[in-house]
Amino acid sequence: MRQTVRPAGRFSGSVILPGDKSISHRYAMIAALAEGNSRIQNYSTGADCHSTLGCVRALGIGVEEDGTTVTIHGRGLDGWTRPERDLDAGNSGSTIRMISGLLAGQPFSSRIFGDESLSRRPMARVIRPLTEMGARIEALDNQFPPLTIHGGKLHPIDYTLPVASAQVKTCVLFAGLFCEGTTIVREPMRSRDHTEIALREFGADLQVKQRVITLNGRPALTGRELVVPSDLSSAAFFLVAALLVPGSRLVIQGVGLNPTRSSLLDFLLSIGAPIRVLRIESVNGEPIGDIEVRHAPVRGGTIAKELTAALIDEIPVLAVLGAASEEGLVVHDAQELRIKETDRIATVAENFRRMGIAVEVAADGMRVPGKQKFRAAAFDSFGDHRIAMAFAVAALGGDGESTIDNAEAASVSFPEFWNLLERIAE
Ligand code: S3P
Repeated sequence: MRQTVRPAGRFSGSVILPGDKSISHRYAMIAALAEGNSRIQNYSTGADCHSTLGCVRALGIGVEEDGTTVTIHGRGLDGWTRPERDLDAGNSGSTIRMISGLLAGQPFSSRIFGDESLSRRPMARVIRPLTEMGARIEALDNQFPPLTIHGGKLHPIDYTLPVASAQVKTCVLFAGLFCEGTTIVREPMRSRDHTEIALREFGADLQVKQRVITLNGRPALTGRELVVPSDLSSAAFFLVAALLVPGSRLVIQGVGLNPTRSSLLDFLLSIGAPIRVLRIESVNGEPIGDIEVRHAPVRGGTIAKELTAALIDEIPVLAVLGAASEEGLVVHDAQELRIKETDRIATVAENFRRMGIAVEVAADGMRVPGKQKFRAAAFDSFGDHRIAMAFAVAALGGDGESTIDNAEAASVSFPEFWNLLERIAE
């Protein structure tokens, strides 16, 4: 699909965004292992989280959907049944990496595959610890999907993550649920902790001390009522759009503000963005609030080390903001960007080239000079949801009508994006 985006006059009003992708995946997977029913409200509308529901259903778990409310009829830790067909993770790295930990603990073998992009994403990072725990996994060239997972009796490990990855951390903790004894995961840097919060919420015995997570195996997990906060990573596109477009004032309601995710707001504040959190409450252990943002020029800055890991999903749209900022944006330590849904350093640079924006690319990041003029262009998402939305935001600041090819990619996390963009751009 080719989407047309015109420059916006201003952004105003109040919006509610779909449920958080990371939290939705985790609630669905854990609910499927709990005893009894869980009702999850504001479940992500994104295709990725529906890939997770498809997998859970194929494993014999009842799932009902009523709008964005999902009810999961969990059957306990030993309640999954051998799937009759291969499991389809679609475009979702979170689905394949996290559910692999759960499949490793099953008394049957299963096969999980994904689309073309997912088939190129590295899985050795989950195969290694799961093999250490006693699973046997076959993969293309020992690292690419499809994965054939021969589950069985697992034993706990004390695992230091080689990369800061919440997906890998979750995979090991999920496998640890099936072990007799204590699984320990050590993180090099703090990554999003929705799994730790959700497992506790469902009744698991889990402790976190600094960057060490300790989980006792074979917990009794029980079904719950849950509400998913709106997705801060989706809000990022509207935050940046409002910052860029003169005259804008936008309120984004009910957004997840977990401190392992909200570095985005801290970073934007640190470069001069007028952002206010209007209300904050805790729902299922996750902080939620309303965010107000107004248009203003921002300084620009540097994203490196821990900050890079914390902002990894937001870097494409922050790069767009960087080009309009006063001093530009420098990104270091972002090798992981190269192995996302696309090589996001390359796809950001290519779209910048199309709109005449200068960028210097490095192996682990980029340097985007500030004060650049945005021109209308023919962009491509290259099949990557965050690239589609980041360059839709760039198009709002263009000097005419831009197009975005393969714009349907946005549906992976945010199917309502294009309609919402049209509705609030005046
Ligand atoms: C996610 C973790 C991050 C992030 C992805 C979602 C999660 O990936 O980029 O969009 O929900 O755990 P990594 O674990 O590969 O860093």
